[in-house]
Amino acid sequence: MQKEDNLKDIISHAKEYGFVFPSSEIYDGLSATYDYGQLGVELKNNIKSYWWKSMVQMNENIVGLDSAIFMHPTTWKASGHIDAFNDPLIDNKDSKKRYRADVLLEEHIEKYRAKIDKDVNKGIKRFGDDFDKDQFLATNPNVLRNKAKIEDVEQRMKDTLGKDDLEGVYNLIMDLGIVCPISGTKNWTEVRQFNLMFSTELGSVSGEAAKIYLRPETAQGIFVNFLNVQKTGRMKIPFGIAQIGKAFRNEIVARQFIFRMREFEQMEMQFFVRPGEEMKWYEYWKKQRIAWHNKLGLGEENYRFHDHIKLAHYANAAADIEFNFPMGFKELEGVHSRTDFDLKQHEEHSGKKLQFFDPEMNKNYVPYVVETSIGLDRMFLAILSSSFKTETLENDTERVVLSLPPALAPYKVAVMPLTKKDGLPEKAREIVNELKFDHNCAYDEKDSPGKRYRRQDAIGTPYCVMIDHQTMEDNTVTIRDRDTMEQERVSIDELTSIIGAKVSMTNLLR
Ligand code: GAP
Repeated sequence: MQKEDNLKDIISHAKEYGFVFPSSEIYDGLSATYDYGQLGVELKNNIKSYWWKSMVQMNENIVGLDSAIFMHPTTWKASGHIDAFNDPLIDNKDSKKRYRADVLLEEHIEKYRAKIDKDVNKGIKRFGDDFDKDQFLATNPNVLRNKAKIEDVEQRMKDTLGKDDLEGVYNLIMDLGIVCPISGTKNWTEVRQFNLMFSTELGSVSGEAAKIYLRPETAQGIFVNFLNVQKTGRMKIPFGIAQIGKAFRNEIVARQFIFRMREFEQMEMQFFVRPGEEMKWYEYWKKQRIAWHNKLGLGEENYRFHDHIKLAHYANAAADIEFNFPMGFKELEGVHSRTDFDLKQHEEHSGKKLQFFDPEMNKNYVPYVVETSIGLDRMFLAILSSSFKTETLENDTERVVLSLPPALAPYKVAVMPLTKKDGLPEKAREIVNELKFDHNCAYDEKDSPGKRYRRQDAIGTPYCVMIDHQTMEDNTVTIRDRDTMEQERVSIDELTSIIGAKVSMTNLLR
């Protein structure tokens, strides 16, 4: 199946089963905004919980925060967002479509990367186990040519985008012969900057004085509370503040489902460190974050690091953790070394000191910051897309299964009476009433067992428990595993522990 088709299937599956709906759908929707349905909200909450626990519960020196979306407008002057939170946009005059100039260039580079992958795959096919990938990548003339092209474009991006040289960006697009994917022409406008912040007015007064912004990142709420948390929590450097919350960006190109939205959620952690130690912590958090991802079991080959070519206005080093989405490898999370830029800026604009007295060094300083920032919605898409599978079974029928990491699945178990009579539904309800203290349970008595199993497979429920006539005699049930589809007869008393062992988040955190 083509990857783009796969995305279409995922979008319709997400809608059909109550994971994600287009927002305000009865009014034909609102572009790039989505609502999470009854199962979506469960999966989202479980992802949040996995992140929050791994940050706040598992680290003595990281605490949480829930700051307001609206902040004093000077926050955004200080942070640089009013002046520099821009994307370079370009329009195609024939299709009238608008693009991000940097994305057009990144996609062009991706084409060279795809060519290299194609050559590697050819080599694997031809030489099998004898194929030496490292040697091939280091010596094959086609690969070397494409690598050189990548380096050349990346360098020119650095020289132009990195210095806000918009004419240079335009020239680069023209030199590379990049065409509009819709019209196929190179009839481009000049490249312009576009500020991504949404604004509104506070109270009843209108005009510049009352203009406030919807936060484009949750991080600034952490910076302005740095001293509040440090002092009241008696925190010592190094320490972190974690926050989950909504962020808003007026994205130029918002497509690809929940990948790029105008209203989305971030899970961010700012780690405050001694000046000069930031690179050590930057490497530390890169390792921690990739390990957090790998534990989910979505496949290590689906992640890669990508160093930023154009550093944000606040960073001295930055890398993305990219995930192999249905649209290819794209940014899932950022790890940024933000220096002391933000705290210093807030000191300057507020006139308040934002410093830490380090007893070991016997001096005050403005801490440096290493940030980890992941989009919750992107994480949701990464999990959903890599778990979505169509399998052909032994009897040549097909099943659609969401092989979600069990700890994140919306329902942990579905309880089903074999028939609607002979006291089986009552017994099933009794079991639900016991299990529901530990696990989110579904109850299903409609249709044949086969159909009911398929329904639960399609929403990723790790276990199905069937109550039959034997249950009434010996207090045993069958428990079916979503992934192996094997059934086992066990005592009802064992259910909590069997299910608990499989779906426990502790296994992920350990
Ligand atoms: N505080 C740093 C910061 O906001 P960013 O790279 O602009 O850095 C961090 O954003 C993460 O937020 C991204 O890696 C991505 O997962 C998510 N994100 C950013 N823009 C998004 C959008 N329009 N829709 C969904 N997620 C988005």
